[in-house]
Amino acid sequence: MKFFVDTAEIDAIAELNDLGMVDGVTTNPSLIMKSGRDIIEVTREISAMVDGPVSAEVVATKAEDMIAEGRKLAEIGENIAVKVPLTWDGLKTCKVLSGEGKMVNVTLCFSANQALLAAKAGATFISPFVGRLDDVNIDGMDLINDIRVIYDNYAYDTEILVASIRTVNHITDSARIGADVITAPPEVIKKLASHPLTDKGLEAFMKDWAKTGQKIL
Ligand code: G3P
Repeated sequence: MKFFVDTAEIDAIAELNDLGMVDGVTTNPSLIMKSGRDIIEVTREISAMVDGPVSAEVVATKAEDMIAEGRKLAEIGENIAVKVPLTWDGLKTCKVLSGEGKMVNVTLCFSANQALLAAKAGATFISPFVGRLDDVNIDGMDLINDIRVIYDNYAYDTEILVASIRTVNHITDSARIGADVITAPPEVIKKLASHPLTDKGLEAFMKDWAKTGQKIL
């Protein structure tokens, strides 16, 4: 399963990238706002740092304008995936840009039928938002399961990119289901390394080691 980092914070991406944990990056207008950076400048920096796909989202709502914005964003680098919302205009944009050979990430997906439309429009990635479904008492992971079954039934090659991840369990469940990609905030990815028994075990080893009076270096 590929790990994308859901942030526009350069330092956080660099730390995980140096560890080989970054297969791509996703951004959205809210994350650009949080970074305080210019969208073109920060996307260019991320695109140069990371080998994999870097999603940059259009903000127009009419297909014609979305297509123009998408073409401009795609000029930033070969690894840019143009992110479009799952609206009728977004699907039209997806069809045109994917027809031009650009990667397209269709975002704000909340139903299996929306995911089906995105695949038919040639999306490279579909981004179902699990956390926001959980927020309204709908199990987000059920949607991932449904999309996996539907895409496999018809051998669609659109990749399932699980988004709006809030917990480490969302990542475990995504891997169990066989999602292609997860995108998560850096702090959630770092939490994957934590286990209380690891901390407890290490503390015991350190206490015993101190009793030996030895040094390795
Ligand atoms: O990739 C989409 C993601 O950023 C949305 O996450 O936590 O705002 O629902 P969240």
